[in-house]
Amino acid sequence: TTVDVAILRCRFRLLNQIVSKKLLVLTVATEETDGFHRFMQSARYFNYTVKVLGMGEAWKGGDVGRSIGGGQKVRLLKEAMEALADQEDLVVLSVDSYDLIFAGGPEEILRKFQQANHKVLFAAEGLIWPDKRLADKYPSIRSGKRYLNSGGIIGYAPYINRVVSQWNLHDNDDDQLFYTKIYLDPLRRETLNMTLDHKCQIFQNLNGAVDEVLLKFGTDRVRVRNTVYDSLPVVVHGNGNTKMYLNYMANYVPNTWNYEHGCSHCDDDVVDLSQLKEYPNVLVGVFIEQPTPFLPEFFQRLLTLDYPKDKLKVFVHNNEVYHEKHIQKFWEENRNVFNSFKVVGPEENLSQGEARNMGMDLCRKDTTCAYYFSIDSDVMLTNRQTLKLLIEQNRKIIGPLVTRHSKLWSNFWGALSLDGYYARSEDYVDIVQKKRVGVWNIPYMAHVYMVKGSTLRNELKERNYFVLEKLDPDMSLCRNGVFMYITNRHDFGRLISTANYNISHYNNDLWQIYENPVDWKEKYIHKNYSKIFTENYMEEPCPDVFWFPVFSEKACDEIVGEMEHYGTWSGGRHMDKRIAGGYETVPTDDIHMKQIGFDKEWLHFIREFISPVTLKVFSGYYTKGYAVMNFVVKYTPERQAYLRPHHDSSTFTINIALNNKDTDFQGGGCRFHRYNCSINSPRKGWSFMHPGRLTHLHEGLPTTNGTRYIAVSFIDP
Ligand SMILES: *[C@@H]1O[C@H](CO)[C@@H](O)[C@H](O)[C@H]1NC(C)=O
Ligand SMILES: *[C@@H]1O[C@H](CO)[C@@H](O)[C@H](O)[C@H]1NC(C)=O
Ligand SMILES: *[C@@H]1O[C@H](CO)[C@@H](O)[C@H](O)[C@H]1NC(C)=O
Ligand SMILES: *[C@@H]1O[C@H](CO)[C@@H](O)[C@H](O)[C@H]1NC(C)=O
Ligand SMILES: *[C@@H]1O[C@H](CO)[C@@H](O)[C@H](O)[C@H]1NC(C)=O
Ligand SMILES: *[C@@H]1O[C@H](CO)[C@@H](O)[C@H](O)[C@H]1NC(C)=O
Ligand SMILES: *[C@@H]1O[C@H](CO)[C@@H](O)[C@H](O)[C@H]1NC(C)=O
Repeated sequence: TTVDVAILRCRFRLLNQIVSKKLLVLTVATEETDGFHRFMQSARYFNYTVKVLGMGEAWKGGDVGRSIGGGQKVRLLKEAMEALADQEDLVVLSVDSYDLIFAGGPEEILRKFQQANHKVLFAAEGLIWPDKRLADKYPSIRSGKRYLNSGGIIGYAPYINRVVSQWNLHDNDDDQLFYTKIYLDPLRRETLNMTLDHKCQIFQNLNGAVDEVLLKFGTDRVRVRNTVYDSLPVVVHGNGNTKMYLNYMANYVPNTWNYEHGCSHCDDDVVDLSQLKEYPNVLVGVFIEQPTPFLPEFFQRLLTLDYPKDKLKVFVHNNEVYHEKHIQKFWEENRNVFNSFKVVGPEENLSQGEARNMGMDLCRKDTTCAYYFSIDSDVMLTNRQTLKLLIEQNRKIIGPLVTRHSKLWSNFWGALSLDGYYARSEDYVDIVQKKRVGVWNIPYMAHVYMVKGSTLRNELKERNYFVLEKLDPDMSLCRNGVFMYITNRHDFGRLISTANYNISHYNNDLWQIYENPVDWKEKYIHKNYSKIFTENYMEEPCPDVFWFPVFSEKACDEIVGEMEHYGTWSGGRHMDKRIAGGYETVPTDDIHMKQIGFDKEWLHFIREFISPVTLKVFSGYYTKGYAVMNFVVKYTPERQAYLRPHHDSSTFTINIALNNKDTDFQGGGCRFHRYNCSINSPRKGWSFMHPGRLTHLHEGLPTTNGTRYIAVSFIDP
């Protein structure tokens, strides 16, 4: 109506008075999507004056991208232009917003528009849409992109008004077809003085042009460069199926991240947890979908997260009968620690997708659930602050970067191929290796992530994300239009390997020395082992008998447990079919590592953890780390209590105490005859290292009560 128009006119006049440069950006957005906020952020950065049309209106323009539609945009633009029709000097830029960012400022656009020397300029692209039959009607051009794209229009206000005032179609009719028909009519093209931005001076549509563009890093800004036309487009549009590619570019453009300053928006809108009266409630969903090494350690890490436990509810999906004992033990010890602890076990026969949906749904339905934190059992979170750090970052969906130790394998993909599968982005390696640090908008992540409860109840209120479209359970998280971020601003932890996890032993993690060396070391190597090298943490109780910590309590207990589980001790007889020659002069009551299938792993342990000590104490001697005789000895008064003086068939011997004097046994120890020197108080987890022959005749002192275990290797025989 005329009154409305008058009001609009008045509003725009006010607006115009504060726009020094006469450029007004008009965009249609009915919802404040993540893409919209990103658009506005880039506009604010360059000080554009933006007027948003249609906010809060229901979108009736159809599903643009899959079918025709978008008429609503023209209708809204037409209504807005009525009030601006007489502003002869005003240049209007009409652009999409959900999938579009600015790479340059208003002055640059105005300059380039003036150089184009037309009254109305449309974006151009190499693909024709929606009516391919119109191709012949397009004016031929010598080079550049031939077809009109309606995602970007710039022109003088009266001329734009004359274009859009011709609209009398429906909201779900096609906007691009409407503009195309005007443009293709030679008469109207001329009288409205229209042309296309054939060489991407202003508008870069990415659809069909991903190979033409690259990022150009400057000191303050990052631009998109079109390498075919050697232009620096100002408006970058992720039309068609290039949304993910735009997300990638927007991780840099215009100033999101660059080499000089790093991440410039990482601290925007962060939450200060210390200012909150109470910590928000978090539902932790744990997914054990395959046999996973180090599961007890995984649960211990949950327990040590720095977050009030009464604010944590835990939901566990365990798909493995094998792990029921671990969960049972954890539950018995910690049943009252968390606000709640719910387990869905293998008997429920849930698919992985069903289980993941169930976890999300528990948070979605519980209005007190502020965050849903999903973590798979192969994620070793080493950062106790992880929950806090993710909450503080304040994104709808965010994951901490975790990587496989010393590998490029991680929990995110930098890009998706056009068919929706893995593709490596140009920056993937730099992000994994933390050469670029920030919060990154990415197309896919798995293993560990946090989703806001409010997002689950709004944008993600459709349930059953994980059984959609028969995708991998993890794949489907990325298909929803909500931006997903991964942060590598801190070290959060690592991914362990679940491949080659053989669960037919008794203590299966012992065998993980190859597959998961970091976790193996953490679990099985003594906490003070590294001090041997940094602080000379070692003793020499007898001449050339070195004594140092090597195994953790767990290693000792599990090796003893493994042997007792195997149970067939040799009985200390001279006749021994296990060794070459079949005769042992100084036999012990023992089990060889080979008998439990642990010899390869044991030799690897020797090379990794014993060889460096050897080099330190016997300088110049480079051990081959080779040993045939590797075994656990059991001393007990009921069977064999001691070992008579002898030499070992080794260059040097290691002898590791596997249990505690006084608590587990009495007596025991070792005596070296040449030096009249005894060690009477062996320490659990500590190893002796001494020459095997000639100088070090030695004996095992009697164990008088209980059972004593030691692990022995004759190295370099
Ligand atoms: C935007 O305006 C502010 C305040 O006038 C100014 O400091 C800033 O440099 C401008 N930004 C750009 C990109 O011109
Ligand atoms: C379009 O307008 C410009 C001035 O803005 C003028 O120089 C040019 O001749 C016009 N082109 C046509 C085809 O009318
Ligand atoms: C578990 O589910 C699978 C497929 O969903 C089915 O083939 C199988 O029979 C089920 N097993 C039991 C014990 O219900
Ligand atoms: C798993 O370990 C058992 C017992 O040592 C062995 O017999 C089996 O071959 C191993 N399986 C694989 C796949 O390595
Ligand atoms: C490591 O050494 C320190 C002293 O150097 C000691 O207090 C600590 O108990 C040792 N740790 C273990 C696991 O023995
Ligand atoms: C060996 O040492 C013990 C005490 O440590 C001492 O009583 C004994 O006399 C020594 N024997 C020899 C042969 O030196
Ligand atoms: C032997 O050990 C057991 C249990 O550890 C203990 O009850 C007993 O008193 C010990 N005997 C001697 C003689 O020390």
